[in-house]
Amino acid sequence: MHSQDPSTALPLASRVSPALSGTVRVPGDKSISHRALMFGGLAVGETRISGLLEGEDVLRTAAAFQALGCRVQRDGADWLVHGRGVGGLVEPADVLDLGNAGTATRLLMGVLAGHPFTAILTGDASLRSRPMQRVLAPLAQMGARAIGRSGGRLPLAFTGTEDLVPIEYTLPVASAQVKSAVLLAGLHAPGATTVIEPEPTRDHTERMLRHFGATVVVEDLAQGARRATVTGQGELVAAPVVVPADPSSAAFPLVAAAMIDGSTVTLTGVCLNPGRAGLIDTLVEMGASLTIANRRVEGGEPVGDLVIQGGGLVGCDVPPERAPSMIDEYPILAVAATQARGTTRMRGLGELRVKESDRLAAVAEMLAAVGATVGVEGDDLIVTGGRPLEGGVTIGTRLDHRIAMSALVLGMVTAQPVAVDDARPIETSFPGFVSLMTGLGAKIGPV
Ligand code: S3P
Repeated sequence: MHSQDPSTALPLASRVSPALSGTVRVPGDKSISHRALMFGGLAVGETRISGLLEGEDVLRTAAAFQALGCRVQRDGADWLVHGRGVGGLVEPADVLDLGNAGTATRLLMGVLAGHPFTAILTGDASLRSRPMQRVLAPLAQMGARAIGRSGGRLPLAFTGTEDLVPIEYTLPVASAQVKSAVLLAGLHAPGATTVIEPEPTRDHTERMLRHFGATVVVEDLAQGARRATVTGQGELVAAPVVVPADPSSAAFPLVAAAMIDGSTVTLTGVCLNPGRAGLIDTLVEMGASLTIANRRVEGGEPVGDLVIQGGGLVGCDVPPERAPSMIDEYPILAVAATQARGTTRMRGLGELRVKESDRLAAVAEMLAAVGATVGVEGDDLIVTGGRPLEGGVTIGTRLDHRIAMSALVLGMVTAQPVAVDDARPIETSFPGFVSLMTGLGAKIGPV
């Protein structure tokens, strides 16, 4: 990954685009891809993964598990992971560089917690600025130790133990990454490890652990809260994984088509896990013509084909409890809101401040730069749409793939082009973004 070397930056620009049309499949889901590699590495036997996202973040996970002693290889269009069994990873010979990948880092810490050796973790400037204490705190309660920079930030040295203590942990922030880290540590601890989440977050870890034969019990509590318990020290058994298309990547062509009158786009095989479906619900509330065809279950996840037609968007109020189910989609939803009649208020977005960049600030600055009406009040983002946008600006992508893609979609509806200073971060989650979008009719290309 070279996205920190300014001399090789890749500027790109988008300009006003005609109605989009076509049928496409976006790459595999990032969350599920990380987990498939990791759980394959912890299983006994060989796990075959089809549809793995070959983005930089996921390739970091593959490299980390190789460094921890697993054989991870491409086999035609599939990937194969030769697992070492729960607790069977070996001390890495060098620093593990997780690049831009927060999910890889946090879930890996949960895995490393159950291993009696020290690993040194680092990443790019974005990842090194992100809070890790939220994961280190529960893992320390279980017996793992870490020495890092202030706030538990990377680089850090992480030491696990064979004598983990199971805990019951209530999440202080709605984070699937923290939940997953504790459950993965719990896999290595004797007895029951429980995570209580006051607001439900994506449950790919729970689903896929079961798919690999672990005992995971999920109970619904009052007011939408959930309690997930894993029984530790059983074996995981290799199991094939089919990775559905990533709804967080589908969001970009989906919103682009929804904004442009006359568009008709079909996105096939998209993961419809309820913990990921907030953007779909929100676009429907905004009056988008969005239907779901061919609903089915693939690899333990609900999937379907999204059919979107452009035009007719109106503003809406997005409640804070919906945030976990669309946490990565707010930048592109905010772009959609510029094309909706009236005001869209997106509530309770504090977590956006600690993503790959401070996305609340990045989105507000991006929309203001093109002449949109936007404000931040506390943790709420407010966008009033319907006014023509000027564009003619260059947006700094801040090592943030979703800001880069949101800016390029925004430029499809501004009078003048919108450029990004560096499109390389897009490779972290959506290889082929530009060709997929231009194939639908988007005007994206060199500056
Ligand atoms: C992810 C969870 C989310 C999301 C991230 C992927 C996961 O983070 O933003 O892109 O795979 O568990 P948090 O759980 O920290 O909100």
